[in-house]
Amino acid sequence: MDEAGEAPVMAYVRNAWYVAGWSHELEVEKPFAISILGERIVIWRTASGALHALEDRCVHRLAPLSLGRCEGERLRCMYHGLLFDADGQVVEIPGQAQIPPQARVRRYAVVDRHSWLWVWMGDVDAADERLIPPAVGLDHPDYILGHGHLDYAAEARLINDNLLDFSHLTFVHAESFGSGPQFAETPARITPLERGIRYERRTENAIGSASRRSPEPMDSFMSYDFLIPGILLMTGGVFPLGTAKACDYGQPELSQAVSGVTFTSQAVTPMRDKSARYFFSWGPHRSHGDEALRDVLMRMADQAFAEDKVMIEAQQRVIDDTEEVQVMPTVHDRGVTLFNRLVEKLARQESGAERAAA
Ligand code: FES
Ligand SMILES: [Fe+2]
Repeated sequence: MDEAGEAPVMAYVRNAWYVAGWSHELEVEKPFAISILGERIVIWRTASGALHALEDRCVHRLAPLSLGRCEGERLRCMYHGLLFDADGQVVEIPGQAQIPPQARVRRYAVVDRHSWLWVWMGDVDAADERLIPPAVGLDHPDYILGHGHLDYAAEARLINDNLLDFSHLTFVHAESFGSGPQFAETPARITPLERGIRYERRTENAIGSASRRSPEPMDSFMSYDFLIPGILLMTGGVFPLGTAKACDYGQPELSQAVSGVTFTSQAVTPMRDKSARYFFSWGPHRSHGDEALRDVLMRMADQAFAEDKVMIEAQQRVIDDTEEVQVMPTVHDRGVTLFNRLVEKLARQESGAERAAA
């Protein structure tokens, strides 16, 4: 939300990769429907292993292609049988020889990476795979990860705001994560990145917290990048006393951690107006835990993410009932402000470029 306290404008970047689902949940030749930024999309995997994504709306009478049948690399609408190729062009109309050239639906670029299916919402020819954030996939050799997703009756932007300001941990997650007062009492270090922000928090000489019961003083470090369009990648751990100083308060080498190294990848996908899907994975580094710890963490995450959902959906209802939405940022909103400004800047550039092209 803007520092001037203006009502939030729900702008989203189109030239970005949005997570549409978990890769392993997409079965071969079983078309899957999802809305992203209010656009209906069908994604399917063919027997050859290729992934395709098209607008989920038949040109004939607007039946969803996600109810269709896969035929090789093609998809047939199962209402009256129009056949679409993977580019979205109609290649067959049963009983009709002529196919009008405008008989096509939009194609989307879709990529399977880091266990997620990523859809590029901008112009398909501009899709740039280098912009896929470096999430840690479920098959990563170093981490033992659990995963899940949660649907929200709230604007994705509100979930992004939540993930950009961890001062809420002290209050929303006191029970689940056992977060102490440090999150609310001391702002984290926030650094702007080209496509997001970096959040870093270190605690020197800390005696065991609720999440770390060792009585010996240690340094702890956590850091995440929050990247366009709404991807959180977080790691951290517990280090020998003096590590923070020794690395000049930069990022310590994770290999020096004595315990507690985990990784979480999270993705917020705006589906429709005021609905969003939140994908997450979390688990320990192999040297710092096992499947049992992963399960403990996932139970904790399920509880914590349900706590966020209660608060954010309630916040959405209040916003809906508010005629003139005004916010009043605090010191903890720096990451929120920087990220949302970046989103608005990129969205403005995109609409400017579109106007210029038109
Ligand atoms: S609606 Fe698709 S073929 Fe008629
Ligand atoms: Fe939270």
